[in-house]
Amino acid sequence: MKAIIPVAGVGTRLRPHTFSQPKVLLNVAGKPIIGHIMDKLTASGIDEAIVIVGYLGDMIESYLREQYDIRFTFVNQQRRLGLAHAIWMCKEHVADNEPVFIILGDTIFDVELSGILSSPTSTIGVREVDDPSRFGIAITSNSNVVRLVEKPNEPVGNLAIVGLYYIKNSSPLFSCIDRLISENIKTKGEYQLTDALQMMLEQGESLTTFPVNNWYDCGKPETLLSTNEILLKHHSSGSSLPGCIINEPVFVAKSAKINNAIIGPNTTIGENAIIEDAIIKNSIIGNDSKVQHVSLDKSIIGNNADLSGAPHEANIGDFSEIKLR
Ligand code: UTP
Repeated sequence: MKAIIPVAGVGTRLRPHTFSQPKVLLNVAGKPIIGHIMDKLTASGIDEAIVIVGYLGDMIESYLREQYDIRFTFVNQQRRLGLAHAIWMCKEHVADNEPVFIILGDTIFDVELSGILSSPTSTIGVREVDDPSRFGIAITSNSNVVRLVEKPNEPVGNLAIVGLYYIKNSSPLFSCIDRLISENIKTKGEYQLTDALQMMLEQGESLTTFPVNNWYDCGKPETLLSTNEILLKHHSSGSSLPGCIINEPVFVAKSAKINNAIIGPNTTIGENAIIEDAIIKNSIIGNDSKVQHVSLDKSIIGNNADLSGAPHEANIGDFSEIKLR
C-alpha cells in the first residue's frame, strides 16, 4: 500500500523553530514528528511513500532515507497552492485507480490502521472539535459522508477532518482535483482537498468516516508541548543520573550530559545536550544545546542553542520578603 505524505508547508506558526528546520523534523518525545507517523505507517504494512516536499525538503528527504527502508518518491511542490494541489502533484506516480492512504506529515495519531487500509470504500478520519471553523467539516449519516465543507463560516457540524484519508479509487480524486485547478476553484485562497472530496461525493462516490480519538496536533508551540506530554505518558526513561532528580515521564537522549539538575516531568532532552545546574519541566530541549543555571517550564529550545543564567547572590536580613522572577 502506498502512502502520500504532504510536508511542503513552511510551518509559520512554529517560528522561530521552523526558520532552520522543517516542522515535521521538530523533536517531540524523543523523535521527529514525522518519525512517529512513519513508525505507525510501516507497522501497518505501508511499504511505499510519495512525499511532497517544498520548504527545507532536502532535510526531510535525508532523514527519511536514512531512517526508513521503504520505497520513497519525493515530489517537489514549489508553489504551495493548497493540499489538493500537493496531492495532484503525485498523479504520475500513482497507477490508475490504485488505492492510496493520504496522511498529513504533521498529524500524529494513534489509530489501528489495518481495518482502514482494507476498507471496501474510501474513508476519512474525523473527530469532534470545539472550533469547527478551523477545519474541514464532515456532515454524516450513520458514518456515511453526506457533505463536506472546508472551514465553514456558518455552523454545519463539529466533526472535523483530521488529516487521514484512505482513498479506495484514486482516479476520481485526481480528476476532481484536475477540475478544481482548471476551473480555479479555491476556498480561502487554496485548492482544498475537502473541496475535491465533496466533488467526488457529488459524482456518486461513497465516502465513510472512522473515528480518530487519539490525534495529536503539533502545529503550534503550545500543542507541540502538550503532544510531547501525551506521548511521553507511554514512555518510561528508566534514567538514573548521578546527582540529578528525574521526575518521570521524561525522554533523555543517551548522549545527553546532565549534571546537578532536576528534569521533568514531561520533558524531552535531545542528543548531545548539556544540562547543568538547571530545573527543566514540561519542555523540549533540542540536540547539541547547552542549558545552564536556569529554571525552565513550558519551553522549547532548538538545536545548537546556548541558554545560560547565573546563580543569584543574596545577603538578606531577617523578616525580608524578596521575590526573584
Ligand atoms: P498546514 O497549513 O497545517 O501546515 O498544512 P503548514 O503550512 O506547514 O503550517 P503553518 O500553517 O504555516 O503554520 C497541513 C499539512 O499539509 C502540507 C503541510 O506541509 C502540512 O504537513 N501542505 C499544505 C502541503 O504539503 N502543501 C500545501 O500546499 C499545503
